[in-house]
Amino acid sequence: MDWPEPIIRVQSVSENCTDSIPGRYVKPPEARPSPGPGPGDINIPLIDLGGIHDDKLRETTLRHVSDACRDWGFFQVVNHGVRPDLMDRAQEAWREFFHQPMEVKQGYANSPKTYEGYGSRLGIEKGAILDWSDYYFLHYLPCNLRDHNKWPALPNSIREVIDEYSREIVRLGGVLLKIMSINLGLDEDYLQNAFGGEDVGACLRVNFYPKCPQPDLTLGLSSHSDPGGMTFLLPDQNVPGLQVRRGGDWITVKPAPHAFIVNIGDQIQVLSNAIYKSVEHRVIVNSKQERISLAYFYNPKSDLLIQPAKELVTSDTPAIYSAMTFDEYRLYIRTKGPKGKSQLIESLKSPN
Ligand code: OGA
Ligand code: NI
Repeated sequence: MDWPEPIIRVQSVSENCTDSIPGRYVKPPEARPSPGPGPGDINIPLIDLGGIHDDKLRETTLRHVSDACRDWGFFQVVNHGVRPDLMDRAQEAWREFFHQPMEVKQGYANSPKTYEGYGSRLGIEKGAILDWSDYYFLHYLPCNLRDHNKWPALPNSIREVIDEYSREIVRLGGVLLKIMSINLGLDEDYLQNAFGGEDVGACLRVNFYPKCPQPDLTLGLSSHSDPGGMTFLLPDQNVPGLQVRRGGDWITVKPAPHAFIVNIGDQIQVLSNAIYKSVEHRVIVNSKQERISLAYFYNPKSDLLIQPAKELVTSDTPAIYSAMTFDEYRLYIRTKGPKGKSQLIESLKSPN
């Protein structure tokens, strides 16, 4: 399987176009960024996760997470236990990677078979309108998919930094699955077990959004919900861009220093029988500054059947989804590209 047409790096397009962008990147009017509430107006919840280790604060902290999962599907966490200097080093290493000469990056060019490596599109529809971003995608877990040769070799520190950063994210993923299990009234290991215990998946997509001379006509990343379990996003500390759908509005996230942005993916929506929802989000670009984000996807083992927890299915709240593996689910997105919410989650609804 290969791309339907030659790949053009958005970074190169950005460097070569001064005042207008190619038609391939121009979104239809209804998909273009609209002026919504400004960053000062409203933000996703900010949660101090340190509270779960404190007897007095534990209950309140659990409730904050519970409310955020139910009402928003998106929140930021601080005091999450990942060292700020490690977060900075990860960002910096990836910035250096994207600033290397194009020939070096081309050595990692990806294909739609596995998507691993350096990429510039999602989906294989010929003639599709494209997003204003390049990315790098790699696997950390399961171990048999971890292949250091498919990771960048430069800058020198990058493989070590990715390893260390990944270990920390996997630890944090376990902590949040436990919190969510408790909050849903399930056994505290329920979600971890449903994800395959030790055999969870963890993969990283680093997004590179170059400067764009006509940011009002395009998107860095089209509206989508994340197909996996949950996502830990390390946003650019200096450049906003992520927008979260809230009713009819798009809320621009204002990142807190060294916070992770956590969001519920489609698989947790299924497991929780839609008590928690995976929420649509997108990325806008700007003409002044490039933006880099690290999106870590924490996923169920890909060949396990994912279905609503029996404990959450009652006669009043019947199962909304039928069982499907993450492998089957992901195939759709990988073929069609990012297409709003629940490309599949709607068709997944069980007939009865
Ligand atoms: C993603 C994503 C947001 C961002 O990679 O799935 O939503 O801010 N990224 O880059
Ligand atoms: Ni996303």
